[in-house]
Amino acid sequence: MKKLRIGIVGCGKISEERHTKELATNPKAELVVFCDIVKERAIAMAEPFSADICEDYREVLVREDVDAVFVCCYNNMHAQISIDAMNAGKHVMCEKPMAISTELCERMISAAEQNNCTLMVGHNQRLVPSHIKAREIICSKQYGDVITFRTTFGHRGCEYFSHGGLSTWFFKKAYSGFGACADLGVHKADLIRYLLGEEIAEVSAFAGTLHKRNDKDELIEVEDNAICLLRTESGKIGTLTASWTYAQEDNSTVIQMADRTMRILDDPMADIQLVDRDGNIEKMWLGGIQTNKVQFESGIPAEFVDAVLTGRKPIATGYDGLMGVKIIEGCLESARQGHTIRLK
Ligand SMILES: NC(=O)c1ccc[n+]([C@@H]2O[C@H](COP(=O)([O-])OP(=O)(O)OC[C@H]3O[C@@H](n4cnc5c(N)ncnc54)[C@H](O)[C@@H]3O)[C@@H](O)[C@H]2O)c1
Repeated sequence: MKKLRIGIVGCGKISEERHTKELATNPKAELVVFCDIVKERAIAMAEPFSADICEDYREVLVREDVDAVFVCCYNNMHAQISIDAMNAGKHVMCEKPMAISTELCERMISAAEQNNCTLMVGHNQRLVPSHIKAREIICSKQYGDVITFRTTFGHRGCEYFSHGGLSTWFFKKAYSGFGACADLGVHKADLIRYLLGEEIAEVSAFAGTLHKRNDKDELIEVEDNAICLLRTESGKIGTLTASWTYAQEDNSTVIQMADRTMRILDDPMADIQLVDRDGNIEKMWLGGIQTNKVQFESGIPAEFVDAVLTGRKPIATGYDGLMGVKIIEGCLESARQGHTIRLK
């Protein structure tokens, strides 16, 4: 069986908690090299696989025994490393947000096209069974059209998960590009596109750094909260909330259809609740969703490996990554300018 030979660039928490664990048990994948600017992290992750290590990603790209690269470093380097990788003929799985501007996302898509490489973005929420089921219910139109929606992703903050604690790069605009609105909100922007099967045409938002302080006890450089209004091309309206200051995690979406309210991951009692006009509830249990504390298979590595080996489109393409960033950029622009933004 042909295996996809993989290099990991960025040996931080997402690589450690999800990608490497899932690739390690994938019979169609081989972990060849681990790269991190902090050498000890690369060494620690490579050790169980007797894999090679390096500190400069360009050393991964010149290797003939590497077919594909997982780009899992700071957001500001996603575009550069992905473009260099595709120009070196490597397929790319890039973490979200795809890049720190739509312009960079477009350059990544061009590099994929020019080099005939697969470019996937780590929008793992598309692979959560509750979201797959919700999409199926919406597409079937059995309960009528979607009219409105609300979607939320809030938790205590990335400093509780990723390396660096209160001095994390996530709080520094030069490295992260955006704050909670992109870190968490981009998951939900992508999810709404995925569930509704249409684009967002118009956005309006409030965003701010309301509470979160860094290791120097200064307010962080990026927004810790954003509350956004979205209007789809066909006129559906809804809200998207992203927060790094919630005491308890909320990763829920509520879809209002003509004949049912569908609550997705909104209540520990069931993953999906379909509520009719009389209050009758149909409950579905579909395995929950990953949290920073409770990790389980995201399915992202398996999806990427299969897409590359079979030559099919992955579930979240470069175009999907671009559209997610476009929505987030629009929301933050709206918050800055104080008016609604039409997305082109
Ligand atoms: N899909 C998800 O649910 C999810 C969850 C968490 C993080 N992420 C994304 O994954 C990426 C990494 O986040 P994290 O939580 O693992 O952060 P982290 O801080 O734990 O790890 C980032 C790692 O990248 C390394 N790095 C930075 N620049 C590098 C470079 N030029 N070359 C090689 N290594 C480099 C750092 O030294 C660090 O070890 C971010 O883009 C983040 O948004 C996605």
